[in-house]
Amino acid sequence: MKQSEIIELLKEMTVDEKIGQLVQITGDFFNEESQITGPMENMNLQKEHISKVGSVIGLIGSQKVQELQKDYLENSRLKIPLLFMSDIIHGTNTIFPIPLALSSAFCPELVENVAKYAAKEAYLQGCNITFSPMADLAYDARWGRNMETSGEDTYLSSQLMKAYVKGYQQKDEIGNYKFLSCTKHFAGYGLVQSGRDYNTVDVSKRFLKEFHYPIYESAIKEGTKMMMSAFNTINSIPAVANKELLINDLRQDMDFDGVIISDWGAIKELTNHQVAKDDKEAAKLAIQATTDIDMMTPCYQHNLKKLIEEKQIEEKLLDESVLRILNLKNDLGLFENPYGQINTKEANEFVGCNEIKKLALQAAHKSCVLLKNNNNILPLNKNEKILIVGPLVNTQDLFGSWSIYGQIKDVQTIKEYFESQNENIHFMDYNLINNQIDEISSFDKVIYFGGETQEESGEANSKVDISLDDYQQKTIQKLKSLNKQIIFVNFSGRPMDLVNINLHCESIIQAWFLGTMTAQAIYDILYGNVNPSGKLTMSFPKSVGQCPISYKEFQTGRPVSKAIDNYVSKYIDEDNEPLFSFGEGLTYSNAKIKEVTYKKEQMHENETIDIEIEVENNSDYDCEEIVLLYVNDLVAKVIRPLKELKQFKRINIKAKSFTKLKMTIDKSMLEYYDQNCQLCLDKGDFEILIGLNPKKLNKKIITLK
Ligand code: GLC
Repeated sequence: MKQSEIIELLKEMTVDEKIGQLVQITGDFFNEESQITGPMENMNLQKEHISKVGSVIGLIGSQKVQELQKDYLENSRLKIPLLFMSDIIHGTNTIFPIPLALSSAFCPELVENVAKYAAKEAYLQGCNITFSPMADLAYDARWGRNMETSGEDTYLSSQLMKAYVKGYQQKDEIGNYKFLSCTKHFAGYGLVQSGRDYNTVDVSKRFLKEFHYPIYESAIKEGTKMMMSAFNTINSIPAVANKELLINDLRQDMDFDGVIISDWGAIKELTNHQVAKDDKEAAKLAIQATTDIDMMTPCYQHNLKKLIEEKQIEEKLLDESVLRILNLKNDLGLFENPYGQINTKEANEFVGCNEIKKLALQAAHKSCVLLKNNNNILPLNKNEKILIVGPLVNTQDLFGSWSIYGQIKDVQTIKEYFESQNENIHFMDYNLINNQIDEISSFDKVIYFGGETQEESGEANSKVDISLDDYQQKTIQKLKSLNKQIIFVNFSGRPMDLVNINLHCESIIQAWFLGTMTAQAIYDILYGNVNPSGKLTMSFPKSVGQCPISYKEFQTGRPVSKAIDNYVSKYIDEDNEPLFSFGEGLTYSNAKIKEVTYKKEQMHENETIDIEIEVENNSDYDCEEIVLLYVNDLVAKVIRPLKELKQFKRINIKAKSFTKLKMTIDKSMLEYYDQNCQLCLDKGDFEILIGLNPKKLNKKIITLK
């Protein structure tokens, strides 16, 4: 529809019809089973309300969506179609690695492709919009939702948000979007105090501007059409009712004119925050902050009309929200074709097809991180007698959280796949291990599949203890006491305390939750069919007592590195370093940076400095490596991290050869926000750090004249 026709449609709508557009409910209200992803309360919605709602959450399936849309439109006076939204976070029916895993590939092209394929499985089955990507920065390993983030770094997360939105928001041949993304959770959700989900956030505006906002902004610049406000508070006001956050920062400063949706129940929860005395006041605060859609509470439905009649809010405010929602529906071409991209036949052919599984396998390969490989114990040889054991060796629950529509029938357990590939692999029941000591002694190497279950991360799954459970720790010690060489494959949705594992195991692979193709991907890595290439995007602490911990630490006035006495920033019972840091990850090639050549060492702000980097691979394995470039601003108006990622490149290096690549420094890599949140750039010296591993960085000082 033309914009003029949309405006005309808005003029024809009654207040009740307008309010209906701002309400989002599950398919259950239409007697269609939906995914419940939040607290269910009695909403006291009557038929006349349900017949006017604007969107449905958690319902997917071409037949069900088609029938619901048809019935709804038959009873709709103005024939405004429903929108269908779901949490397609890392795949629809074919599940890809959790976003925290996928980010370890440092590969925007891969992320874009994953998003594109996930979108197609979804829109063929009637989903119009996904509540993804999650642009929150990971900050504290205790938080369960790290698994949905793209790690602890602003620059990497920003590049990957762009890729997610680009992959999701493909257009059809007539220029309508097939699928749209709702970026979330604005803002700073990863900063919840103590890593406890839904907890308070207290952060300076400058930190938000410097480290968090660029990630959301990156999705906005790529054209994301919706934003979801966060559960947490910013500056002591819950995000969903925070005018400064949603109007000043999001709509004005970031030039976002799309739809803002609350998180599940968040508007009604303003009464729990004790910033609204009742649902009516909650509705008023949220609509005044321009929250357009009320997800799964009755606040807007039961109160907006009264608020307008009592002149507590202007109908204009309602009209602006409705217009944004109508435009969203128009972006998808739903007025001309309310069934969007639904195609039952194509869905039956595409969902779970070999093509998407191939991509899922490739993504899983690239998401694995080889953290340790003493004595090059890996890759394994197929002739070796290997014992596989552990709590996660015989389960299909390898999707990770937020895999609502995952087809579990497509998942092979580690045991099934490994035994199918190699008769020298033997499985032992994890619970019987302590009385099968004799049998164990006949194996040289043991692969232990452990960590946490997928139910221990995700929403509302924060932890105070991020170490392995006692039984796992004892089993590992038992195996070590038998002089077994142990390869530990860690499944988790967050960084874990692997100190004891590191003590007893020769090799450690961080396998996260890799989705549908987990088993084959890990087998390929262990047996060298694929050379691992992932690098951590979130640091693994030595102890939960170090949390929050990040590679982007500030020097402080009393850094350990400059200690002249005991009065330095330290712990008395642990050092300051993580066990494994952001950027760590090995390959079987042990490639090295041979030379770094700077074309010049000074630049003016409108110039650049080209750098040529030579990386050599003297191994017998072809490899993919990730070159990371960090900047350290040696003197600035505000404190700056000791190093900050500003560029990365994935490269392929053939066995016994080398690769040359170019990186370029420009002023955008040297700018920062000053104490007044103004973007600034200082003349002076900057340290440039380049490497494959954060512990071996080539350092150089350049000068901005
Ligand atoms: C949940 C999550 C949000 C999700 C929404 C809908 O509470 O916070 O990320 O998209 O509800 O399921």
